[in-house]
Amino acid sequence: MAAERIAIFDTTLRDGEQSPGCSMNREEKLQMARQLEALGVDVIEAGFPVASDDDFAGVQAVARTCRKPVIAALCRAMPKDITRAWEALKEAARPRIHTFLATSDLHLTHKLQKTRAEGLAMVREGVRLARSLTEDVEFSAEDATRSDWAYLVEVFGIAIEEGAGVLNVPDTVGYTVPEEYARLIQYLKEKVPGIDKVTLSVHCHNDLGLAVANSLAAVGAGARQVECTINGIGERAGNAALEEVVMALSVRRDALPFETGIRKELIFRTSQALANITGIEVQPNKAIVGRNAFAHESGIHQHGMLSHRSTYEIMTPESVGVRRSHLVLGKHSGRHALGKRFEELGWELNKADLDKAYKLFTKLSEQKKEIFDEDLITIVRDGLTVIPEIFKLRSLQATAGTAMFATALVTLATEDGEHSETAMGDGPVNAVFGAIDKLTGLKGKLMEYRLHSITGGADAVGEVFVQVDFEGAITNGKGASTDVVEASARAYLNASNKLCFARRSTPALAAEGN
Ligand code: KIV
Ligand code: ZN
Repeated sequence: MAAERIAIFDTTLRDGEQSPGCSMNREEKLQMARQLEALGVDVIEAGFPVASDDDFAGVQAVARTCRKPVIAALCRAMPKDITRAWEALKEAARPRIHTFLATSDLHLTHKLQKTRAEGLAMVREGVRLARSLTEDVEFSAEDATRSDWAYLVEVFGIAIEEGAGVLNVPDTVGYTVPEEYARLIQYLKEKVPGIDKVTLSVHCHNDLGLAVANSLAAVGAGARQVECTINGIGERAGNAALEEVVMALSVRRDALPFETGIRKELIFRTSQALANITGIEVQPNKAIVGRNAFAHESGIHQHGMLSHRSTYEIMTPESVGVRRSHLVLGKHSGRHALGKRFEELGWELNKADLDKAYKLFTKLSEQKKEIFDEDLITIVRDGLTVIPEIFKLRSLQATAGTAMFATALVTLATEDGEHSETAMGDGPVNAVFGAIDKLTGLKGKLMEYRLHSITGGADAVGEVFVQVDFEGAITNGKGASTDVVEASARAYLNASNKLCFARRSTPALAAEGN
């Protein structure tokens, strides 16, 4: 008998994007949405259109581009939110309005200043309006797990009467535990009239580290849609991690006889794409996608692995797209071999990108004898940036020492030629940033600076992540090089270019100085 299908509703671009440091501009959202579509998610929740013009534009761009999955937009159960969500979604091939209202007394009283009866009326009007705009409507009872169960039955009954096809039972504050959550799902299935006609969905936060366990318990009890995010990003401690939910269902099919439409071999690449876009690295011991998830350190484990892999391995790294690191190419490798290796790593580059990648590869191979898969991934992640380089780094020179001020001379290329500036600073990186600011005309304040080496050895590639406050506009940037000062300059320029690009494509932002 075919296993029942669990719909994977990805909210990386909405709930995930709400987590600190994870905000994405429109281009980045689009890049991530394409990756999610390739991964095979059933639903992409693209944003919360009423929240800002940027959010609206992000949802609209995803709706126009990704034609296979359902594209959802979140909105409170309020007319202006719902119509704004629909405006952003209406060109989607498969639009879904996702409307919500808090149902716990705590939220109703203190956040919304509404009575339970007023809440019911809002659900009725909200779902009715959404349903008048499109057929596919999801209703979420925010803080469901701290709501009165009998009241939830009333709320969901009304949502069904008004035509919602998906009912979501969020554990908004990550409070529930697996058995209790499963009981709630069973209770709703028994008590809500007409519930057998709709899909029950779960949305779990990870405040107690139980988001995945709770989601799986709910699936066991009858939920057929799981809302989750890549790398588990999301409000506070995050949401249920998509990769963990999907792999638990896959590896333990004996205990959980369900399937998903996810292309598991693209999981690692998707996780890396998100880390690259947001600059939030995956913790090393993170299940499925962490750097150590398939590393075996102790002698006993290594011995076991060599005798029989399944002694310590419940799934292969290859099954989620992780390849064992090995030396791949040297400076005499040709473009064809490079393209082939990228393909094996899961990146299909078009001719223009392959040309660009090849140039970066030959430059890197002059600086570094051994090129590893990780180096190639960095080339694609950082070299083939989707942000146009309004300012290009031509050269830099920095001097520093214990008994002198650091100085830097930086040359950038722009549309109208090359320009150079010098600056002094507390250290070479600071001096370089000062020179770049003089050249771009921006005023940046460094909020965060992180450096890590991507590969081992003295000639390792260093990757720098910066978060810069450009007079109120917080922007992330990344850059990589075997020289850390150059990597820093590239990261800072990446942030500057992002800001200039956003201002050019959204003139209102430039006018507001945002
Ligand atoms: O956590 C939550 O309750 C949500 C809803 C708006 C779905 O994100
Ligand atoms: Zn949430």
